[in-house]
Amino acid sequence: MELRKVVVLGSARYVPERIMTNHDFEKFLDTTDEWIVQRTGIRERHFRAEGECASSMAITVGKKLLAQTGVDPKDIGLVILPTVTPDYMYPPTAVIVAAKLGCVNASGWDIEGACAGFIDGLYTAWSALATGDVKYVLLIGSEIMTMTADYTDRATCVLFGDASAGVLLKSVDESEYGVEGIYLGSDGTHWKSLYQPAGGCVKPTSHETIEKGEHFMKMEGQSVFKQAVKTMVTSIERVLEKTDTPIEDIDYFIGHQANARIIESTRRKLKIPEEKMYVNIDRYGNTTSATIPLCIDELREAGKLKPGTQLVLFTFGAGFVWGGAHLVWGS
Ligand SMILES: CC(C)(COP(=O)(O)OP(=O)(O)OC[C@H]1O[C@@H](n2cnc3c(N)ncnc32)[C@H](O)[C@@H]1OP(=O)(O)O)[C@@H](O)C(=O)NCCC(=O)NCCS
Repeated sequence: MELRKVVVLGSARYVPERIMTNHDFEKFLDTTDEWIVQRTGIRERHFRAEGECASSMAITVGKKLLAQTGVDPKDIGLVILPTVTPDYMYPPTAVIVAAKLGCVNASGWDIEGACAGFIDGLYTAWSALATGDVKYVLLIGSEIMTMTADYTDRATCVLFGDASAGVLLKSVDESEYGVEGIYLGSDGTHWKSLYQPAGGCVKPTSHETIEKGEHFMKMEGQSVFKQAVKTMVTSIERVLEKTDTPIEDIDYFIGHQANARIIESTRRKLKIPEEKMYVNIDRYGNTTSATIPLCIDELREAGKLKPGTQLVLFTFGAGFVWGGAHLVWGS
């Protein structure tokens, strides 16, 4: 079968209005703005308003994407929603989003890829669009990370924020633009380094799990840090090997925003010039599957993405899972 190209038609983002600064944390946690900035690069993040959820934020992003691209919602064949904070355990949040957007001909599913969710979603979208079976895909990462953070644990809660962001992808006959290649990896032997102990079938939610705070995220920060740098470097190298592209040809590197020091170590190891590595973690913290499309949308809005701009997306997250994507902007 002749495979088709998959191009990005548009991008959009939504962040809740409420800003939580490092100084706000100083009021109830044993922490300082200085520590958080030095160790993570984060200055502020956004917290949801009451009632906001993964679907409501994704619907806002979806409406922006449809308005920006002029695509008829009836032509969307798939809504893919990477999230670790779905509205409900089931049904998939993606079908709620699809229904509210009028995507009546779309299937919808969630991808629980944690911080690799966006690139996992891109891979899925790419596969579906490359066959031509589906013409348009909405891919939107949407995360309410504040519901999984423990606000008595200073080592984790300062890192995360809420946000949603995504892209609209199209299947085309031929193009010099679009997805060039994707590399994905995982090593599940580290699953306990970053996880939520209760709420799944191994430990269903009970009075006891709640009393023990097992419905909150648990993380071994240093082990996560080391693996993140190693696998992000590998992800960039491997995807560029796959697409046979010299690293110098890439205009922007857009990494998962987990910690500014992780991104900086990755940049130094690969000798990437500072101006090519996009960083916005200072304003949003880690928003899991939304970080990469948040960066993409800021770059687009700033007029930095022109037809032919070469991007490498790279990520790492709980599992561990990691991956890279090589994308040429334009449609
Ligand atoms: C969490 C992280 C910022 C901690 O930074 P670190 O330099 O590794 O710090 P350590 O864990 O060694 O802790 C050093 C000290 O700072 C303290 N500390 C942790 N969080 C703190 C905070 N918010 N404010 C002040 N002190 C803090 C620790 O308690 C420890 O104190 P101690 O020496 O008295 O025991 C860092 O490990 C990290 O970012 N890891 C990766 C996390 C991540 O990216 N997760 C998502 C992956 S997708």
